[in-house]
Amino acid sequence: MEISNLVSTTNNTPIANTPAASSLTVSEATKNGTLGAKYILVTGGCGFIGSHTTIELINSGYTPIILDNLSNSKPEVVERIKKITKKDVMFVKGDASNKKILTAIFEKFPITGVIHFAGYKAVGESCETPLKYYSNNLSTTTAILETMQKFGVQNLVFSSSATVYYAEAISPNGQVTGECIEGITPTVRPTNPYGTTKLIQEWILEDAARGIDFYPGITSEKARPLRAIALRYFNPIGAHKSGFIGEDPNGIPNNLVPYITQVAIGRLQQLTVNGADYPTVDGTAIRDYIHVLDLAIAHVKTLQYLENVDTGAMDSSPISPNAIRNNGTLFDYFNIGTGTGSTVMQVISAFMAATNGDIPYVVGPRRAGDSAVTYANTTKAQQYLNFKATYGLAEMAVDSWNWQKLNPLGIE
Ligand code: NAD
Ligand code: UFG
Repeated sequence: MEISNLVSTTNNTPIANTPAASSLTVSEATKNGTLGAKYILVTGGCGFIGSHTTIELINSGYTPIILDNLSNSKPEVVERIKKITKKDVMFVKGDASNKKILTAIFEKFPITGVIHFAGYKAVGESCETPLKYYSNNLSTTTAILETMQKFGVQNLVFSSSATVYYAEAISPNGQVTGECIEGITPTVRPTNPYGTTKLIQEWILEDAARGIDFYPGITSEKARPLRAIALRYFNPIGAHKSGFIGEDPNGIPNNLVPYITQVAIGRLQQLTVNGADYPTVDGTAIRDYIHVLDLAIAHVKTLQYLENVDTGAMDSSPISPNAIRNNGTLFDYFNIGTGTGSTVMQVISAFMAATNGDIPYVVGPRRAGDSAVTYANTTKAQQYLNFKATYGLAEMAVDSWNWQKLNPLGIE
């Protein structure tokens, strides 16, 4: 398949870079100043986290190639990334489960790593249409792995989620603390199909690292040992400082922060606080909110870790004891949060300060499947990925609000 067939156009205008990605060759990309750059395939790069990470990749000297089927995003996001970075951005409209499309991209560009964001993520919808979730989320991951194996691409960063933890996050001494610690806090079948797909995808990566599929010469001459890391995001919020990109959910938001900003802008009447009888300081549930800009940096640090870690050294200190290893392969998983929890009421207060206005709310019953307290233990990410979040809740609220103010109806 020719890659020129794959580039989306709006009104016959290429929405990819100039020169159009359809005609962009690797040598032309080199002429554009990306000589020696590392090409990173970013599946789901038009989405909330993917778009911010694409910017961070560009700022860090990588050349991202976005593959997105636009099922939950708009092509205008590519234009906005270009506006922010003042760089060409390569974009392929297509499905990340389509091996023909993946093969065309890997044939055209010397991909050195993949960041796999593409997937469905609405918890409630996944309970109604679980097959849709299993099909999309699992098929993209297996197709990407098979293509990486075929082309000898080693490095994969995968979007996992804090939902893989047992809802009440029981600590080693048996107390319910809400602190999630990699390798200690149990992961069990999550309370919704979306979360289950995340855990299964981690298992797929783990098994791929244990098996022989990625051994050179066994299934492909080019195969090289897989190095995969699952990042278990806690609650990403905030937006790019420019206000050009941010979280742009379809329909009525399920998540707290987009709901609050839509109340603040007048699109929704009032927020319902899901339960005020939890054993917390004000009775509302605690989550670990992390700025999407910090999250974007975490992805670049993870790529850099994968590029530099010596997976061959048997007692290599930069590799955590949780890692699955098999003759040069690596699979590991990390929490990406701030380590600090905030209650729903604290989040509302932060937005009242950011908007300098009121956020009308009523208290309703608890939401099914919610835990009282969930926050990240961040030691492992600090120790191995050298990642530590920097933004606090107040700044996250200011940036989310700035995005909403500048885009009252989202990206149109
Ligand atoms: P998002 O919906 O904004 O972005 C996902 C992108 O993937 C969208 O642009 C969508 O069009 C695209 N996509 C979906 N299926 C695809 C397919 N088969 N082929 C190509 N593109 C496809 O979501 P997000 O918040 O940016 O989340 C990114 C990833 O992080 C997801 O895998 C999500 O499950 C995970 N995650 C998100 C959160 C969160 O709260 N936002 C928390 C934990 C994990
Ligand atoms: N909440 C309200 N009112 C609302 C929306 C949410 O009170 O209108 C409450 C929730 O009940 C919860 C807290 O705000 O106590 C945070 O809820 P979110 O829906 O914003 O976030 P969750 O922690 O439930 O889940 C989110 C994503 C998941 C992701 C997870 C990672 O929805 O996809 O974070 O921790 F996996």
